[in-house]
Amino acid sequence: MAARVSGIEKSATFAIFDKVRALRTQGVRILDLGGGEPDFDTPRHIAGEAAAALAGGFTHYTPSRGTPELLEAISKKLADDNGIQAGAADGIIVTPSAKHALHISLLSVLDPGDEVIVPTPSWVSYAAMAQLAGARPVFAELPADGGFRLTREVLEAHVTDRTKAVLVNSPNNPTGHVLTEAEARDVTAFAAAHDLFVVSDEIYEKIRYDGARHISPASLPDGAGRTLTVNGFSKGYAMTGWRLGYVAGPAEIIGEVLKVQQHTVGCAGSFVQRGAVAALTGPQDAVAAMAAEYAERRSLLVDAMNALPGVVCTPPDGAFYAFADIRGTGFERSADFAEWLLTAAGVAVTPGTAFGPGGEGHIRLSFATSREVLAEAADRMAAALAARP
Ligand SMILES: Cc1ncc(COP(=O)(O)O)c(C=O)c1O
Repeated sequence: MAARVSGIEKSATFAIFDKVRALRTQGVRILDLGGGEPDFDTPRHIAGEAAAALAGGFTHYTPSRGTPELLEAISKKLADDNGIQAGAADGIIVTPSAKHALHISLLSVLDPGDEVIVPTPSWVSYAAMAQLAGARPVFAELPADGGFRLTREVLEAHVTDRTKAVLVNSPNNPTGHVLTEAEARDVTAFAAAHDLFVVSDEIYEKIRYDGARHISPASLPDGAGRTLTVNGFSKGYAMTGWRLGYVAGPAEIIGEVLKVQQHTVGCAGSFVQRGAVAALTGPQDAVAAMAAEYAERRSLLVDAMNALPGVVCTPPDGAFYAFADIRGTGFERSADFAEWLLTAAGVAVTPGTAFGPGGEGHIRLSFATSREVLAEAADRMAAALAARP
């Protein structure tokens, strides 16, 4: 096998998904707080547009960048919501998933031997994507006790003459941290000082709490000419199975990324793109309703976690994960805790180490599941911890 593949790890979150499925086929009732996808169905008006496009024969290739209507809608959204100027004709590529947008972005900017700084805890796929591009992910561990805040100092501590890019994710999976304007300015000033690309994954943008503001690095003066902004429809619009995302950036960079898109997938699905136009230009109340429901679940889960002996859980600013500190429970390793929880309580969570070295001592619990499941999971966890010798 190619070294570029044999050298990377399988996805830790898919491994948990497989384990849960195997236990369920044995008849064990597992409460799954490991997953990373909305439990809501896609809003009907969006699905209806795609269904109509499919029925109407809108089933051919589209331009590699995406349909003109969707590119226009994304360009407007980026300007209105994010303060990003990205031309529909040359500054955006519609991709089959945000994952693919990240993959082709990293393939386009990283050479073998380059380094990309990945603040950690961070989403499971960044390191593997950097490795597939031949580059080396350099984890910059963020301090748990400071709320996983990103500082210029921690970035400076990891820069070398091989550093080519810095990858940020806000709202963050798994910590839920939303970059403040000061942090975002630190990132772009750091990137400008060392002449680096910024890759900014903003997939959880729509899911934020307590008025947390979303700041796009590309909207800041230091970030505008060097940032690739990745976003998509999976999380905010509950469209995971549609596989639809996009990348936006300066025309000269996007023109290069487009070559990778053209020679890999060609274009995103045609009728799927019609649905996405409806998502961006239609009513947004379903998005707000989902975000409001996540807020309720967040309170329920965070309170329940903080009631467990030895567990400390800071409410996340965004996304739909609680990242709980389990260092007080007596477990040395988060993987042992997660394994024990699955057997003793039938509750699936993701160990913090799945998210890089900065995640040890924590578990990630997804609240993209019903309040009933969350309440029962909390009861089961409390009972299992109480019964421990
Ligand atoms: C941080 C982050 N980025 C990107 C993605 C991928 O989103 P998509 O479904 O559009 O590929 C995920 C999905 O779990 C994610 O958590």
